[in-house]
Amino acid sequence: MFKINDNFCKLSESYLFSEVARRINAYKAAHPEADVIRMGIGDVTLPLCEAAIEAMHSAVDEQAYGASFHGYGPEQGYPFLRDAIAENDYRARGIEIADDEIFVSDGAKSDTGNIGDILAQANRVAVTDPVYPVYVDTNVMGGRAGLISEDGRWSDIIYLPVTADNGFVPAFPVEVPDVIYLCYPNNPTGTTLNRSQLKAWVDYARRNGSLILFDSAYEAFIRDEDVPHSIYEIEGAREVAIEFRSFSKTAGFTGVRCAYTVVPKELYGTDNKGNKVSLNHLWLRRQCTKFNGASYISQRAAAAIYTPEGKAQTREAIGYYLRNADILREGLREAGLEVFGGMNAPYVWIKTPAGMDSWAFFDMLLDRCHVAGTPGSGFGPSGEGYIRLTAFNTYENTLEAVRRIRNAQL
Ligand code: MLT
Repeated sequence: MFKINDNFCKLSESYLFSEVARRINAYKAAHPEADVIRMGIGDVTLPLCEAAIEAMHSAVDEQAYGASFHGYGPEQGYPFLRDAIAENDYRARGIEIADDEIFVSDGAKSDTGNIGDILAQANRVAVTDPVYPVYVDTNVMGGRAGLISEDGRWSDIIYLPVTADNGFVPAFPVEVPDVIYLCYPNNPTGTTLNRSQLKAWVDYARRNGSLILFDSAYEAFIRDEDVPHSIYEIEGAREVAIEFRSFSKTAGFTGVRCAYTVVPKELYGTDNKGNKVSLNHLWLRRQCTKFNGASYISQRAAAAIYTPEGKAQTREAIGYYLRNADILREGLREAGLEVFGGMNAPYVWIKTPAGMDSWAFFDMLLDRCHVAGTPGSGFGPSGEGYIRLTAFNTYENTLEAVRRIRNAQL
């Protein structure tokens, strides 16, 4: 009889956001009259910007004629998009990134999940806690997590708590990790690292031979000068970091699917004989084998957001969500709740009142306010006692959610 990958059996029954959706749907089924405002998964509500829509329409038209039809594209992305990314997201900020260090994909979730393919099982992995669950779950699948204990911690994962007590800035762990996941602006806490805080981690990785997997899916929400948009703004990061970016939140592509990963050519790991091996080469080899590229239509849409019109339109959409974040942050504070994040990020992180646990507060918000969030404990043990709300709903629903929470006097 064939055998399955036992590591999958170690995972919790369902993925966090599937569980949240299941509970909301069950509530809706039991209370069909409830007008539930969904602030759980970070899914956008604004339609795609005009520049992306126009580009997609003309890409579709190209597919209608033999002369302009596109079949398989380059696995690492079309040159027109890689060049636009390198030019606008990096060179324009004074960061040298070559086009062939950019790998276009269908999502940062896929890339942050798949990156483990090119890393040895023996690596010790560190994550901030709370954390985007994909990093932990995919390391469980890859056999790097060990066993889960009663308090929800995996025996082989190194946890870097980020809570109100340390200002949401992770401290260096006692045991040196081989691989460190950092996500900034942070999902789920909506907090950021400033330049010197991020530099400290880059220096740490350089001193210790660690690899940083830097998820900057939310960089478009940064407005503060002192918050780096890219880890490559920090000297030496090209030798220690892979960066993941996404058009999902930047341009509302959660349904379109397009993202990219940067793997600098200075980045080397060692094989089990001690030879240095280029990660850029390994990732290229992995993508060519397992991935056939994001669709031509999605990539044309992504390239369109780098036009002057596309830039203005996406900036406006981000401004809309940032205004929602302001409304949530300030409104919930006025309602007497302790609120963090949401300044350069689309997430607000709320302390549950009166020491309630995260799921109990989730149920209470859903039942009394018809507002659905994501329980902090779903993001890791240090998320217990918090809940996350997203700023991605509409302006009207955001105002309404705050109004309901205020009136409920939680
Ligand atoms: C989130 O809500 O944390 C994200 O939207 C999930 C994702 O990007 O996969």
